[in-house]
Amino acid sequence: MKRKLILIIAMAVCYCHSSSISAQPRLQPENIDEILKVMTVEEKCHIVLGCGMGYGTEVKFPGTAGSTYAIPHLGIPSIYCADSNQGLRLSAHRDYDSHDYFCTDYMTSITLASTWDKQAAYLVGKGIGNETREYGLDWILAPSMNLMRNALCGRNHEYYSEDPYLSGTIAAYYISGIQSEGTAACIKHFAANNQETNRNANDSRISQRALRELYLRGFELATKIGNPWTVMTAYNSINGKPTCEDSSLTETILRNEWGFKGLVVSDWNAGKSATASMMAGNDMLQPGQDRQYQELLTNAKNGKLPMTILNRNVKRILQLIVKSHSFANYPYSNEPDLKQHSADDRKIGAEGMVLLKNKDVLPLLTGKKVALYGCTGYDIISGGTGFGGTMQGRYTVSLVEGLRKAGFTIYKPLLDQYKMHIASEQKRLYPNGLPPFALRPLNRAEEIEMTDKQLQENAINTDVAIITIGRKSGEAADRTQDEFNLYNKELKMIRQVSETYHKEGKKVIVLLNICSPIETSSWKSLVDGILCTWQSGEQIGNSIADVVSGAVNPSGKLPITFQNAYGDAASDKNFPSDVKDMKDLATMYMWGEANQNNKREPKANIDYTNYDEDIYVGYRYFDSFNKEVSFPFGFGLSYTTFAYNKAKVIQRGNVYNISIEVKNTGKYAGRNVVELFVAAPKSKSLNKPIKELRDYAKTRLLQPGESETMTMNINTDDLASFNEKASAWKTDAGTYQFLICSSAQDVEARCLATVKSSVRKVNNVMKPLVKLHLLHR
Ligand code: BGC
Repeated sequence: MKRKLILIIAMAVCYCHSSSISAQPRLQPENIDEILKVMTVEEKCHIVLGCGMGYGTEVKFPGTAGSTYAIPHLGIPSIYCADSNQGLRLSAHRDYDSHDYFCTDYMTSITLASTWDKQAAYLVGKGIGNETREYGLDWILAPSMNLMRNALCGRNHEYYSEDPYLSGTIAAYYISGIQSEGTAACIKHFAANNQETNRNANDSRISQRALRELYLRGFELATKIGNPWTVMTAYNSINGKPTCEDSSLTETILRNEWGFKGLVVSDWNAGKSATASMMAGNDMLQPGQDRQYQELLTNAKNGKLPMTILNRNVKRILQLIVKSHSFANYPYSNEPDLKQHSADDRKIGAEGMVLLKNKDVLPLLTGKKVALYGCTGYDIISGGTGFGGTMQGRYTVSLVEGLRKAGFTIYKPLLDQYKMHIASEQKRLYPNGLPPFALRPLNRAEEIEMTDKQLQENAINTDVAIITIGRKSGEAADRTQDEFNLYNKELKMIRQVSETYHKEGKKVIVLLNICSPIETSSWKSLVDGILCTWQSGEQIGNSIADVVSGAVNPSGKLPITFQNAYGDAASDKNFPSDVKDMKDLATMYMWGEANQNNKREPKANIDYTNYDEDIYVGYRYFDSFNKEVSFPFGFGLSYTTFAYNKAKVIQRGNVYNISIEVKNTGKYAGRNVVELFVAAPKSKSLNKPIKELRDYAKTRLLQPGESETMTMNINTDDLASFNEKASAWKTDAGTYQFLICSSAQDVEARCLATVKSSVRKVNNVMKPLVKLHLLHR
């Protein structure tokens, strides 16, 4: 009897339990509000926090950046995210698994931006979005798109340009490509994350105008044109407030003014107070910490974190989840089309290379015997370090391989000498073997010093010299002035090789395998050709060979000015250009914390950085103040020549339609970039840059003699400057010059238009707390 009773009770419990389960709603795009009602406060506090990074080999996606909290009984799956701009950052190998998971190591962002080709950006984004999906993830933490305020920023290779229009539009197309695969994109680091030194505690002090016109503008364009599903805030503060705790940035500007509807996530472990981040509209904090969970739960229960805020943030997370591949249970293949993506990398990588000088040396006839100088020439750099680079490429096509396949002969005695030298340098620098994963770039091998006799022998035995100069950088440290300048041994190599080869009537080409500009003015006259190859991914050796041999006619243009010397740019005065003792994350964190605990006086350019140059960043400074540069913004040569005809501007209401006919007048087929700068009339109230990039377009491949008419459209609003007094974007009435350029310093055609005034009011937020000594014209 007793047994029977127990059975009846047990059956009743089971029944109640199962009926309560079946009564629970399961997440659907249309029932998010209902789900919110049944979620417990604990579940809400869990889902706004990430579940740690993908460390270890037993996690689902080793090597990735994070995931979200699953609530299976409500049908809420985890979704998975990974870096980076340059390709999906995922470990290639897993324990007890014979399959490999290589991803395409695409070109650095600076290379992509140098194409000035929106369709190229779309294609690369699409490839990365596809690999993310086919490897089972949902969300790629790219593009990074901070403005290149200074040539030494360690993450410049991850960013696009010193100009916000170029940055914003390349980012927008890259985002569209990613999201065309149903994968979420993420613009980062919002905003003004322009230095790595003390990045977690640095306060960027910026005028409202520079903030609006430069540091936010690219993000605004990317948001409005590209419609990213997510935005990542940054580590730094702006005008005294951490970006992840500032609702003026994320709610007022991003959502209310720009109409962003997606999810905001913090940068990894950014911010002090999880509650403040939640309140500011950072919907999710990654990678999530237990102390944050305890804080949120306590504050959600005692009302310091209002339930309306928590619900708002959770709702935005659920809205992202229902769009994800994981939610759709997408049957991923683990077999993306790596072959096609590699071919895209080769083609677009070559199109992003910038020909800086060509005194009758390029393209080189195949079959020539080439002497390769410089350690980097035998150890080519495909990308940056840190989380902005891919984990481990399948391979990198070396320069030697690329040139050989293109039909060149590499001079063997020199190759053998470098092979031995590099091996002995590695032993000297890393007696215990190379580190498996370096957040910081590896130490640099010293260049070989050669005798005049040896150089002469090399010159006699070869047709041409190719010298490679390399620089690597990445997350967590800025470059120093030493790295901007050439090292003595490099300068000596350029000087001696040039002298010897020229004496033999032979030519010298320099390849710049760099992450960001270096000094070129002191030595550029010594050599015959300079090709800035940047770091263009796994196919770099082939891409370089394509340009060197003429299989690809270079059409890249600089997205950043090559200044003559460090110190020339207006921002150089306020940049940590020589901080050698803060080259790793640990010292950086200690430094930041000591300051925040008021243990010492705040230090300029480390604890805070005054953006005194204001709006005069890059060409906006050099042009407006008549300063000479080595190679201007927008500069890049071709093997052919172009003529610009029939420049025309037609006004239709508030829209100006600018057209120009571009004709290939040379002997090689080629593409050309049309750069549209606009010069505003002198204004009584604001000092303005002499001209600003407002649009650009790239031709298709034009055969010799062929023309294409390029058309660009500009709105009155696009010509506005930010007026702080009125808290408004204002376009002054007057005569504007529309300048068709081939670089910031080369105007090819111009036309005038009378423009009516326009005003767009915005919120008066994010004011500097200290007086800045702003540069005026
Ligand atoms: C970087 C982000 C990156 C995140 C996750 C941070 O250190 O600043 O760009 O997305 O880590 O890996």
